[in-house]
Amino acid sequence: MTEESQRLQKVIAQAGIASRRAAETIILEGRVEVNGQVVSQLGTKVTAQDEVKVDGVPLDGQEKHVYYLLNKPRGVVTTSHDDKDRKTVVDILEDVDARVYPVGRLDYDTTGALLLTNDGDLANQLMHPKGRVDKVYTAKVKGLATLEQLAPLKRGVVIKGKKTAPAKVAIEKVDRDKKVSFVTVTIHEGRNHQVKDMLAKVGLPVEKLRRDRYAFLDLLGLQPGEYRDLKHDEVKRLKAGDYRFLRRK
Ligand code: URA
Repeated sequence: MTEESQRLQKVIAQAGIASRRAAETIILEGRVEVNGQVVSQLGTKVTAQDEVKVDGVPLDGQEKHVYYLLNKPRGVVTTSHDDKDRKTVVDILEDVDARVYPVGRLDYDTTGALLLTNDGDLANQLMHPKGRVDKVYTAKVKGLATLEQLAPLKRGVVIKGKKTAPAKVAIEKVDRDKKVSFVTVTIHEGRNHQVKDMLAKVGLPVEKLRRDRYAFLDLLGLQPGEYRDLKHDEVKRLKAGDYRFLRRK
């Protein structure tokens, strides 16, 4: 009888170790063994008979799914493993035994809402471009922002050869003495450095960036560096694709 073979990155993602994309990185980093041999090529196929290990730990697919919301502090990398040995977001969750990984990415100097889980299916769903999860950012920018200046972001601007989807923008505060402004930007895409690039494009370089909200998950009650379990109902809504932020009563 022939066993159905599957791509290694898919098997790792399905075991809840990482998203498909992150699983590819883990493979390329040489952290995966198949039957005792390091495999660092992406096309590799395996069957249920093959013993796959990540960082020396066998995939058993039995790990219970867990979900955390972290208020990421500044100066921490958003990965589960850093070549330069810098502190990672996973290091912050020191009392969590499950092999969680971040859903998406925040820059080293960006703070705010970051979801971590070992549920590969949910992570893939949330990161899929069709998922349209709203992310709300507050940026402190250099200069006195005007709505006119921000208007191109509502239509989309070209960054690295590709137009961004229409964003929602608002001005929270303009500090004329310090010549800085605070603006909120809501996007559903997740390109690298997207908000910084968008604001730089309209002449407002970002000095500080915080993600206030990911889907309906905001930072209420969480100081930078603090995290909490998601509630059952929150997980249920995410899985159902209901990402709407409902105002608190
Ligand atoms: N956009 C950015 O520029 N940086 C982040 O960390 C997140 C969104």
